[in-house]
Amino acid sequence: MQVNISLTKVVDNSYSITIDSLPKIHFDTKVAIVTNPKVAGLHLAYLLSKISAKELYIITVPDGEEYKNQESVDLILESLFNHRFNRKSLLIAFGGGVIGDMTGYVSSIYQRGIDFVQVPTTLLSQVDASVGGKTGMNNSYGKNLIGAFHQPQAVYIDPYFLTTLPAREFGAGVAEVVKMAVTFNKEFFEFLESADLNNAEVLQEALKQAVQTKADVVAQDEKEHGIRAALNYGHTFGHVIENETKYKQYLHGEAVAIGMVMANETSVAMGLMSVDEAQRVQSLLEKYNLPTSYSIADTESFYETFFLDKKSSDSAITFILPVGLGDVKITDKCEKSLILSVLTQFGDAR
Ligand SMILES: NC(=O)c1ccc[n+]([C@@H]2O[C@H](COP(=O)([O-])OP(=O)(O)OC[C@H]3O[C@@H](n4cnc5c(N)ncnc54)[C@H](O)[C@@H]3O)[C@@H](O)[C@H]2O)c1
Repeated sequence: MQVNISLTKVVDNSYSITIDSLPKIHFDTKVAIVTNPKVAGLHLAYLLSKISAKELYIITVPDGEEYKNQESVDLILESLFNHRFNRKSLLIAFGGGVIGDMTGYVSSIYQRGIDFVQVPTTLLSQVDASVGGKTGMNNSYGKNLIGAFHQPQAVYIDPYFLTTLPAREFGAGVAEVVKMAVTFNKEFFEFLESADLNNAEVLQEALKQAVQTKADVVAQDEKEHGIRAALNYGHTFGHVIENETKYKQYLHGEAVAIGMVMANETSVAMGLMSVDEAQRVQSLLEKYNLPTSYSIADTESFYETFFLDKKSSDSAITFILPVGLGDVKITDKCEKSLILSVLTQFGDAR
């Protein structure tokens, strides 16, 4: 006899994202703040003036993308076991996207999953990495290939942290802000064109709009089966640039900025975007000193590198192409010849 039992999902992943000065928060449980020496040196005292807990521990891991790996994950896990963290304990990710991704990942696997809170301290992590529950780490096969979707319990975005962020890191975050505007919100794009993000009030408004955009997209498609993939605008090309330059020449957001220009050229070639609209995006990126040109030595080899991206299948490459400003098309049906002709524009002559 066949017995069919259906299991109704009762998952509610809702959480609040606060954009303001950190409030005072007390956690009636064991808490570990996961951070790195740089962020701790700059801002831990401030965080500790706001956060209290039944028991509070600080776990520091080395600073840098190259440490977003199993060794650091083990270091954090080891500390949690040593301090007898249990399923009610909580982690606080205190740093940029590297700390956020790794802390999120550890909290997704420690005793099959415990809560965590994001306190992002870079612009990129405030507008993008801290929202949406993608967690992960790198290994020798590539970036972010290991991870889980694990939503935080809350996100606290305090613009104050950005006052110590180096200009280049700030620019890298602006690239992700521009990404949200071009793909989903023309009015936001126009706001950014006339905005000065160095002004605190304007920055807060931009944070609000970027985070709202990301939250809306994630709410519709948490696991990236559809529309969430649009947030990879600029990334298909950007990942190849990062790969070709061995992750040394550009910050992630900078490679994405060049990638967005390449995606725009593809849209122009396909009649999805006007030359003027593509130029407006480029001008906005350049306003924040982001790179917008790149010299492709070998277009065939550049094209082949697309296939290393985890979002590409063996035979098709997914391109995220703006449709004008504020709309986007996700397609894996671009002719190779068209892409090669776009890439040729980025040869040495450019
Ligand atoms: N989960 C997601 O959805 C998602 C989205 C985008 C990016 N990411 C990941 O995020 C990472 C990149 O994040 P990032 O750009 O924040 O890099 P990062 O975490 O390496 O931070 C950049 C540098 O700034 C320092 N820093 C952090 N806060 C600072 C502050 N307030 N003042 C001065 N220095 C500060 C960091 O210590 C580091 O040296 C990548 O690993 C990427 O894969 C994840």
